[in-house]
Amino acid sequence: MSLLEMRDITKTFPGVRALDGVSFDLYAGELHALVGENGAGKSTLMKVLGGVYPFGSYGGEVVIDGRVRQFHSVREAENAGIAVIFQELSLIKELTIGENIFLGREPRTFGVIRWEELYSRAQKLLDEVQLPLDPRTPVGHLGIGQQQLVEIAKALSQEARILVLDEPTAALTDAEVETLFRIINRLRARGVGMIYISHKLDEVFSMSDRITVLRDGRTVGTEPTSALDEPRVIARMVGREVGDIFPEATHEHGDEIFEVRNMTVEDPNVRGKLLVKDVSFKVRRGEVLGIAGLMGAGRSDLLMAVFGAHPGRTTGEVYVAGERVHIRRPSDAIAYGVGFVTEDRKRFGLVLDQTILNNMTLAGLPRLSGRFVTDVDAEAAAGGRAMKDLRVKANSVFTVAGTLSGGNQQKVVLAKWLLTNPRVLFLDEPTRGIDVGAKQEIYGHINRLAQEGLAIVLVSSELPEVLGLSDRVLVLHEGRVTGEFKRTEATPEAVMACATGHTRRAA
Ligand SMILES: Nc1ncnc2c1ncn2[C@@H]1O[C@H](COP(=O)(O)OP(=O)(O)OP(=O)(O)O)[C@@H](O)[C@H]1O
Ligand SMILES: [Mg+2]
Repeated sequence: MSLLEMRDITKTFPGVRALDGVSFDLYAGELHALVGENGAGKSTLMKVLGGVYPFGSYGGEVVIDGRVRQFHSVREAENAGIAVIFQELSLIKELTIGENIFLGREPRTFGVIRWEELYSRAQKLLDEVQLPLDPRTPVGHLGIGQQQLVEIAKALSQEARILVLDEPTAALTDAEVETLFRIINRLRARGVGMIYISHKLDEVFSMSDRITVLRDGRTVGTEPTSALDEPRVIARMVGREVGDIFPEATHEHGDEIFEVRNMTVEDPNVRGKLLVKDVSFKVRRGEVLGIAGLMGAGRSDLLMAVFGAHPGRTTGEVYVAGERVHIRRPSDAIAYGVGFVTEDRKRFGLVLDQTILNNMTLAGLPRLSGRFVTDVDAEAAAGGRAMKDLRVKANSVFTVAGTLSGGNQQKVVLAKWLLTNPRVLFLDEPTRGIDVGAKQEIYGHINRLAQEGLAIVLVSSELPEVLGLSDRVLVLHEGRVTGEFKRTEATPEAVMACATGHTRRAA
């Protein structure tokens, strides 16, 4: 008998049928992957399971151990043994790691929280997920990869029988991913049933027992992983064959438009520790400069510092079109024509309770409006065009950003910066959480923007993405430049060697 059966689930939002008769089941000790394009309905299905959408707000049945269950809240689902690690992490930044793990379930005596016990149990859980941190650390101090591991520690503390992981590895380092997979295998052996959502098909194939594909709120099919391969799954996801996803690059390189000299950035939390050490680079018009490196190599810190958005102490010089400029805050950078698609869209990229249009025009406003008035119609039209260009799946520019699927939120962030008509565009993990079909589109856009003369600096953890799009690749290791390659010389092996600390300087 299945541990879990979801039967004929439907869920509608105003104007959107997110789920249209989806059936899905899960065995104990199984890892069942759920894949599909951005907006296919994966997260929505898991919110039905996790009690986020209470009984009565969806159609169909959730059956656990053969019994129909009706959850009215997340707490009720948790009590039934369901733990969901949501795509957009939901930890409370002001609370400590330990408080977050045991929130609402704190060990108590006569109503008084037993802090010693709470923190010693939290410490054990952190050891289990191999996160070398004090459980008294506020979550706000953690990077997103670390937060992800805290969420997993929290799920472990609940001893869930059904664990949902929605894009769990999007922000993890390779070492963290290995830790996660070890934990998953341990849970599998204990009989925990897991639902695994990911756009990284290699992970899906290496970890899952079965794969279910969703498209437009419907089940395309469920099959054992051994009976499928990547091209077949992709074709089912997007409803067509997807060929080579990287565009043929033919950029004409113009003048040097942007230069960074001797950038050094100090860790705001640890005095004297340098995150970026004396890094210099130049970018020409029409050029894509890729910055490769492992997670934690300082790539995001570098871009944040140049953009005036880094909390740590920064030294170095920035030149735009040959002229020295002083960028002290993001608004300075924007004024000099620098745009920035950040990796953490929840923190820096989007205002979730605002409309798509408001989000898009937040950065671009000065360009689109006159001196004293805002031209709403022109804005809506430009926003609508940008939305269509990037194929954002939403009813209109007036849709609230927070209701979009994860991947579509990322497209809005990209559209927002494109509306500022930047001269230089920083892209930090631009396709995180984006499905293959949409990735291909975004790659096409990056290529086209370069052809139009935009200078692009691209940071990505996906090496094929850096190599497939960049004209030149700079490699960082522990905050230092360890290598520089022309497109033709940048082989995966050579770049990885530099990323792990070997040094090479090209002509
Ligand atoms: N709260 C909401 N209000 C309105 N529409 C919503 C809401 N939540 C989701 N939707 C819509 O339902 C559809 C399915 O979204 P969902 O988040 O489930 O997609 P997904 O498969 O998880 O995509 P991704 O891979 O991008 O995370 C989308 O069209 C989305 O815009
Ligand atoms: Mg999702």
